[in-house]
Amino acid sequence: MRFQVVTIFPELIDAFAGIGLIAKAVEGGLMRIETCSPRRFTTDKHQSVDDAPYGGGSGMVMTPEPLAQAMDALDASVAREGVPAATRVLLTPQGKPFTQADARRFAALPGLMLVCGRYEGVDERVRSLVSEQISLGDFVLNGGEVAAMAVIESVSRLLPGMLGNALSLSEESHAAGLLEYPHYTRPRSFRGMEVPAVLLSGNHATIARWRRRQALLRTRALRPDLFAQLALEPADRALLDEEDEP
Ligand code: ADE
Repeated sequence: MRFQVVTIFPELIDAFAGIGLIAKAVEGGLMRIETCSPRRFTTDKHQSVDDAPYGGGSGMVMTPEPLAQAMDALDASVAREGVPAATRVLLTPQGKPFTQADARRFAALPGLMLVCGRYEGVDERVRSLVSEQISLGDFVLNGGEVAAMAVIESVSRLLPGMLGNALSLSEESHAAGLLEYPHYTRPRSFRGMEVPAVLLSGNHATIARWRRRQALLRTRALRPDLFAQLALEPADRALLDEEDEP
């Protein structure tokens, strides 16, 4: 998969692309991460990519032309290779909240272009140049770069061959609209807190039932909004109705 990032801080994305599992995936040819800075398409001495807002007010607004040219330059680079243009996504606090379902949808695309704004935002006309707008959540970042990295990280771990452990993907939080069950490792006793006995039983069926029940209980307690959207099987209802173990 090919990620393209339009950003005035390409060094931030390059650093991210050079570390850990992402770097491994890039080295292994599983994905590419390219950047293009709108500053390349400025004409003034200061390479300005922002300007004062029409109508007055505080803050600066990113001008549309350098952003548009950066997007077009990235399109042109894939066109030279005979590849279709990447789907364009603007990172903005006004976008649709990003979910695991979006990550899965993006992971099926050949290319994703992430457009990062800075300052007070981007000229409104830039929105017409992208196919969707995504927000990382109801808070405001200084720019879209951190959001773009979050999107790349969540999408890349869904790419076939990325984790080398397809089972852990299907069991993790949000995979089926549920939070994940609790995990424990050594030691058995940590500061007076014990590993639940069921996990030491060696009975895989009992452990699987316990984990499913914990995932359901946890989702109901911590994320009632997610829980309300679940279509529960009778077996899950029965699990929820069970008494707690002594
Ligand atoms: N840019 C600034 N704030 C953002 C947010 N919450 N999500 C995505 N992009 C942003």
